[in-house]
Amino acid sequence: MDAVRADVELHGEPCGETRPAPCGLVIFGASGDLAHRKLLPSLFRLQRRGLMPESFFVLGAGRSGDTASFRAAVIRTLEGIGAGAAEAADFAGRCGFAAGAYEGDELYAALAREIEARSADHRTGGNCLFYLALPPDLHAPVAQRLGAAGLLRESGEEAAWRRLVVEKPFGRDLASARELDRRLKSVLGERQIYRIDHYLGKETVQNIMMFRFANRLFEPLWNREHIDHVQITVAEGVGVENRAGYYDRAGCLRDMFQNHMLQMLALVAMEPPARMEADLHRDEMVKLLRALRPLPREPAELDRSLVRGQYTPGAGMAGYREEAGVAADSVTETFAAARLMVDNWRWSGVPFYLRSGKRLARRVSEIAIAFKPVPHSIFAPLVPGSAAPNVLVLNVQPEEGIAVTVEAKRPGTKTCMGSLTLRFDYRSVFGVEPPEAYERLLLDCMLGDQTLFVRSDAMEAAWELVTGVLETWQAGSARGACTLHGYPAGSWGPPAAGALLAADGRRWRTP
Ligand code: BG6
Repeated sequence: MDAVRADVELHGEPCGETRPAPCGLVIFGASGDLAHRKLLPSLFRLQRRGLMPESFFVLGAGRSGDTASFRAAVIRTLEGIGAGAAEAADFAGRCGFAAGAYEGDELYAALAREIEARSADHRTGGNCLFYLALPPDLHAPVAQRLGAAGLLRESGEEAAWRRLVVEKPFGRDLASARELDRRLKSVLGERQIYRIDHYLGKETVQNIMMFRFANRLFEPLWNREHIDHVQITVAEGVGVENRAGYYDRAGCLRDMFQNHMLQMLALVAMEPPARMEADLHRDEMVKLLRALRPLPREPAELDRSLVRGQYTPGAGMAGYREEAGVAADSVTETFAAARLMVDNWRWSGVPFYLRSGKRLARRVSEIAIAFKPVPHSIFAPLVPGSAAPNVLVLNVQPEEGIAVTVEAKRPGTKTCMGSLTLRFDYRSVFGVEPPEAYERLLLDCMLGDQTLFVRSDAMEAAWELVTGVLETWQAGSARGACTLHGYPAGSWGPPAAGALLAADGRRWRTP
């Protein structure tokens, strides 16, 4: 039984969107994939929606290139997403380019000159956002050179701001993440560092907070008394694509769990902050991450809590080891499924099952909250177990929305029960596509709102959990322990992932 109806009444305030103060944006890696697939289109869409500052400029920075060729590339990118010739040209007219080696001085001298001249032209007061869309080994050297060139200093007549956005991966393990952080903090304050996790910018992920804390209905049930378990799935249909160079050294645990998966878990499970302010919110996030029980350090025991897999040929698709750029004997995991426990009063004993992988059956991300069954059935001969427990599903993508299953009487003269799904579908209710996560996040960077960015203590807490596993895998593999399960491309992952839940008497949902 399906019901597809939701009426929406919008409250006017406080949804007025704020326009940031004039500023400049410097994109390192400006000819790269991220800049052209996400950053430039997002800035353009913000501009279209009237959300870019009244006055701004964009400076690309890269090893080679010039303003004319960068502008031409920006126009191609914007026209590729449906921009008209005039608006694309108008946006490109605000763009410039500075070229030079990332580890030489020339680039930074050129940037200093360009920023000064353009800040005066565009009257930005010196406000400037630096975006590192670069390979991770360049994050610290570039930040330190920006610092040495004086470009991160917040000064000027009106105390101009300088901020730096760092893309993941933020380090490879706890030690390297701490080292990167130390080097960033040698030239920047925490308030100037924006560690981006684009999942936090997704509309439906942000909705978790509003759903939980703007409704009276759910929060009283949001605990171990009523919730049986939680499942978080981020399934991708794509394989490693053209990123083998990065991915084969990273793997699913670093690529998806350390950041997106654990951040979503934290949002689902955290305590309410007193107010929606960056540090109050992030205090609660870190408290939750610190309450995660470390996974077992003994390989055989770890295998019973965390399953790792690698896709093999299937459904006409190549296996991971056949992909271009992947070593023929690679042991990198492209799938992981884990049972995590949160050791605090609210969640004691409630498992959080997380799974993510590439080349799975289809692209879908969801958070499913499975409630406990009713304690007693008055509908004899129906016993409590014959009524399906309620499930609340937060659909993160691609069909953003919320669904709740409830038990209801099926029409007729007999006492027959059925599960009814109440769905709220974002697109049909609001009639718009949710904005791209980067739009919201770039806007927040310009506004100086760090709420949706990962603070260094949360980043460390997540690495602590993940690093323990990586170390055990490494030690275990050397001794022939810690299984890497194969799964056919196009499936839902290795059977061992099913066994992980079966051992607890549960099953994965098929999203
Ligand atoms: C990135 C990972 O952070 O997230 C990629 O590096 C992954 O491997 C991507 O494909 C998934 O993001 P989305 O928004 O497509 O779900």
